[in-house]
Amino acid sequence: MKTCSINGTNLSFVDRGSGPVLILAHGFPLDHSMWIGQIETLSARYRLIAPDLRGFGQSGVSDSLATMEQFADDLAALLDYLAVREPAVLCGLSMGGYVALEFWRKYAQRLRGLIFCDTRAANDSPETAAARLVLAQRVTSEGTQSVADTMIPRLFDPSTLQRRPHLIENMRQVIERTDPRSIAATARGMAQRSDFTAELHNIACPALLIVGASDVITPVTEMQQMARAVPNAQFTVIEHAGHMAPLEQPDAVNAAIESFLKRL
Ligand code: MLT
Repeated sequence: MKTCSINGTNLSFVDRGSGPVLILAHGFPLDHSMWIGQIETLSARYRLIAPDLRGFGQSGVSDSLATMEQFADDLAALLDYLAVREPAVLCGLSMGGYVALEFWRKYAQRLRGLIFCDTRAANDSPETAAARLVLAQRVTSEGTQSVADTMIPRLFDPSTLQRRPHLIENMRQVIERTDPRSIAATARGMAQRSDFTAELHNIACPALLIVGASDVITPVTEMQQMARAVPNAQFTVIEHAGHMAPLEQPDAVNAAIESFLKRL
């Protein structure tokens, strides 16, 4: 991994391959390694830039509040650092999708296309926002293991949970290694993120939406609604995958991404 110092933090990132740029923004509370199946395959034809968002993986720790806007600013600064001037495709999973929407709001001219995986446009209900604040307190006092225990069963399709213990264990370790301060700061940031539902019709660049058929966090019906609201969006459901579709079914997700990228 490479590192750079931007916006007052150290950011670690993978920068692999050459060709049109595809940026990959991971979910919460994960890191770039969830994109391993995309990095290994798609870097043969594209330049893949996959950061550990601030606070996650090997990037610097976040204090008190990490907003989706801050993450989007970090992505823009990373592109500047890498001297990427041409418009790029931004692909975000779940929280990465919230970041992608903020990036679109601020930096639409830097986008060639958007890929939303297992995410939503709506902000948190008051109940969900309150639960985030409870999680922020709990992770600070109890540590990250309880976050992993709660999240892991909800991230994957039952078949992944049963048959792929190494993949599950890797994700557990990623969550448990994350600094509790970063998890708390990002939970607070997600709780106060914007609602983009009424703005989706203004997305002018090509868009692809991907969702795992058994995603219980951002279900197919909700992503289908999101896809209907984005002009001319493509929508793909990935079988035998839950919330972590790109990790669970990389071949199917890569096929959807490549067919989208080829048409840009
Ligand atoms: C994620 O995968 O990034 C999270 O499920 C997002 C969220 O908690 O809203």
